[in-house]
Amino acid sequence: MKSIEWLGNSLKILDQSKLPVETVYRNALSYKDVAEAIEHMEVRGAPAIGAAAAYGFVLGALEYSGNREGLTSFMDMVQDRLAVTRPTAVNLFWALRRMEDRLRECWDVDDLDDVRQVLIEEAGRIAEDDRRMNRLIGEYGNEIVPEKANILTHCNAGSLATGGYGTALGVIRAAKEAGKKVHVFVDETRPVLQGSRLTAWELKEDNIPVTLITDNMAGYFMAKGIISLCLVGADRVAANGDVANKIGTYSVAILAKEHGIPFYVAAPTSTIDFSLSTGEKIPIEERPSTEVSCVVGKVNVAPPGISIANPAFDITPARYITGIITEKGIFTPKRLSLLNKKTLSRRNHGKI
Ligand code: MRU
Repeated sequence: MKSIEWLGNSLKILDQSKLPVETVYRNALSYKDVAEAIEHMEVRGAPAIGAAAAYGFVLGALEYSGNREGLTSFMDMVQDRLAVTRPTAVNLFWALRRMEDRLRECWDVDDLDDVRQVLIEEAGRIAEDDRRMNRLIGEYGNEIVPEKANILTHCNAGSLATGGYGTALGVIRAAKEAGKKVHVFVDETRPVLQGSRLTAWELKEDNIPVTLITDNMAGYFMAKGIISLCLVGADRVAANGDVANKIGTYSVAILAKEHGIPFYVAAPTSTIDFSLSTGEKIPIEERPSTEVSCVVGKVNVAPPGISIANPAFDITPARYITGIITEKGIFTPKRLSLLNKKTLSRRNHGKI
């Protein structure tokens, strides 16, 4: 099931906030619709947010009705609106910058429809590149999956969170396709329950054996010697290999270290932010308190008026991470700098 689909002049968005109970789509006709869908987490997961924002940018260009001269300032406003939807996943800013660069390259194209066509093609490439990168992440990641493995994952880093196939789930899918016996333990991932609502659902659809657990059970299964590997996605990776991912990832990583279990992060290079030296500099989104006080927006589980905190992500320091699986290979956090284009051109003449 695709999280987004471009329909020529609108973006069909699968409303992930309703899954798995209801399969509902939003047909986004404007950049404001896309911004709202990202804010409400109808589309979520770092790479999927980036691809949706790219199409939001396209919708802005389609909505514009002025002359060629005024397009750039209008698109600056569109970009600003899309950029404030969610602060942590860097793919959002990466995709918007790619769209902005493409628009700037069109400075000598006079016909507005020609410019729009260029932008539609660029957004399509962002989504397509992500699918291709996930396949490669799967191929590389498969190398670290034992023939028989119980894998623990947190949140959803699957098809729904990406252009398709998934990052962490892409590795699991590749291992299954390679004939390995994998069983996945899925943290339910409070407060929004992406683990139980989305990951468990995706794996069940693919006939991959899955056991759903609550977040506070992870240590129990590790202590019993049941978990052989932890695999998660990422929303932003800092230059030193610190990783921002769904709240609770840090606790899983510490537990994994304590129990001597390898802890891998699967993410495309579009998720690496070399402009930030450490994870401390990654902005952490604070989401509405109702996500904590009210389960799936329906059942109140907290006393009225209680103080609530709801950071949506945490930072896992590089020292807890065994390796980062990218479309260019697997890197220890220390060797991640090899992927930095600036470092590459200085040290290795552009080759890894
Ligand atoms: O708040 P969400 O659901 O957008 O958070 C998603 C995650 O934290 C995922 O693990 C991450 O984006 C990796 S998705 C390939």
